Amino acid sequence: MQNRTLRLNEILHIRYPVIQGGMANIATGSFAAACSNAGALGLIGTGGMDEAMLRREIARCREITDRPFGVNIMLMHPEAAAFVRIVCEERVPVVTTGAGNPGQYMEAFKRAGIFVMPVVAAPILAKHLEELGADAIIAEGCESGGHVGEMTTMTLVPQVCDAVTLPVVAAGGIADERQLRAAFALGACGVQIGTCLLASTECPIHENYKAAILAAKGSDTVVTGRIGGTPVRVLKNRMSRAYVKAEKEGADREELERFTLGALRRAVFDGDVREGSLMAGQVCGQVTRIRPVAEILRELCGDGIETDRERAGGKQS
Ligand SMILES: Cc1cc2nc3c(=O)[nH]c(=O)nc-3n(C[C@H](O)[C@H](O)[C@H](O)COP(=O)(O)O)c2cc1C
Repeated sequence: MQNRTLRLNEILHIRYPVIQGGMANIATGSFAAACSNAGALGLIGTGGMDEAMLRREIARCREITDRPFGVNIMLMHPEAAAFVRIVCEERVPVVTTGAGNPGQYMEAFKRAGIFVMPVVAAPILAKHLEELGADAIIAEGCESGGHVGEMTTMTLVPQVCDAVTLPVVAAGGIADERQLRAAFALGACGVQIGTCLLASTECPIHENYKAAILAAKGSDTVVTGRIGGTPVRVLKNRMSRAYVKAEKEGADREELERFTLGALRRAVFDGDVREGSLMAGQVCGQVTRIRPVAEILRELCGDGIETDRERAGGKQS
């Protein structure tokens, strides 16, 4: 079990207490390596990949960085079991899991010496995963971009901290130093960020997607799939407005899936900001410039964090 007084950077042996969230179709090996080189933990996102791609992206990441990195496995992915086998064979140092319960894979991860951090949206799952051998928990509030639960980061993080003895990482709604400090105050040892990294120089999304993030205000996101399917936070556009309207009118799952099929890829690769799924969190309202990842991390973490810890004599401030 990890000591709760340690910060995430100390636990993972990285510079900043920050994880780059594994983003489907976006977080390639090169992007993860850029984030690791800049001092965060970079994650390769398996969403949108097949087995060969994952092997290739892990190799690419290792070519570019010798720092720790990880892989995010979305458990609802049809090839999730194969991805688990690959990360174990490749001895990837860290795995995060999303959209479900990784219990059935925990023994394999442990045998391979992998540090496992499941993403949870509710305290009860965190408790269960601690019993199954998770090493840390990522508590993701519904302000975040992508798949969301019901609880906010403000309510979820302290309740997860109370439910488990493991280190807890806060995700959802974090893009500057005020929010990082708030996460520490809630009991987290670090943060996972996604939306603010979409507006980085290194992020391999279409320029139109980046421009839409810069233009968006904090109230410009909406959750599709709250009623009829899987809830996902995206920017408001023609597709998401039509989706929500159809949902309210009682469209069935099959009909709704037609809106989202391939929609993230349309946004990421084609730059279709009308019909694409522009996944983004509410912090988009704070993101106003495209900057290198290193600058985003430096500003997020500020100069004060190390000083605070030193001042506190090594205890969490
Ligand atoms: C475009 C996009 C795609 C995402 N895809 C995934 C994913 O495939 N797997 C996952 O666990 N989380 C995914 N997330 C969530 C992020 O990993 C991260 O937890 C979240 O973005 C943090 O909240 P923030 O967006 O407010 O920074 C995605 C987020 C975004 C913005």
